[in-house]
Amino acid sequence: MEYDQERFVLRNARHLAADYMMRSIREGDAVIDATMGNGKDTLFLCGLVGKNGHVYAFDVQAEAVERTRERVREAGYAERTTLLLAGHETMGDHVRGPVQAVMFNLGWLPGAEHAVTTKTDTTLKAVDAALELIAPGGIVTVCVYPGHEEGMRELEALRTYVSELSVRTFNVLYHSFVNASLQTPRLFLIQRNK
Ligand SMILES: C[S@@+](CC[C@H](N)C(=O)[O-])C[C@H]1O[C@@H](n2cnc3c(N)ncnc32)[C@H](O)[C@@H]1O
Repeated sequence: MEYDQERFVLRNARHLAADYMMRSIREGDAVIDATMGNGKDTLFLCGLVGKNGHVYAFDVQAEAVERTRERVREAGYAERTTLLLAGHETMGDHVRGPVQAVMFNLGWLPGAEHAVTTKTDTTLKAVDAALELIAPGGIVTVCVYPGHEEGMRELEALRTYVSELSVRTFNVLYHSFVNASLQTPRLFLIQRNK
């Protein structure tokens, strides 16, 4: 049966993260893409913040930074980006907050060696740093891929970490497609409420 794609709200974790970003970000905001990769999310965020906003983006692979640089240059968005060849766990050293949103898409660079994947230890440090940087009302989204070993570790560690956040300061939502395989990507959404 045909259906209207616009009304198909439960596609996948990345899609949900993008939906929340669209609802949260306004023209002129500063935001962070914590995992640049091929630059698709950086480009998407550039569109949301507009010409007066700014996107800080991080990756540890020079290849990711170069692919992203090319993508944003072609779109005419270079001036609204700062692309950093640095681990997201150092974001507090590079960005002076507050920012409206921080987007994490964990795992490895699509189309490259799987050797460089995000790691539980640095992911937790980075989410912690992100929560320090977001403005009241700001959000952090984290897409996690438990289909590989390190991704499963990240998922377990993040679940523990977010469930211990003070409910007075943060609202946390965990999205899991409960009738799908255990390997299906999950999404955490964290909002600072004051
Ligand atoms: C799934 S990809 C991101 C996809 C990207 N958002 C896109 O739109 O194409 C995950 C990226 O995280 C990067 N990464 C791994 N460890 C990192 C770290 N400590 N800090 C920042 N990026 C890291 C990898 O190099 C990889 O490019």
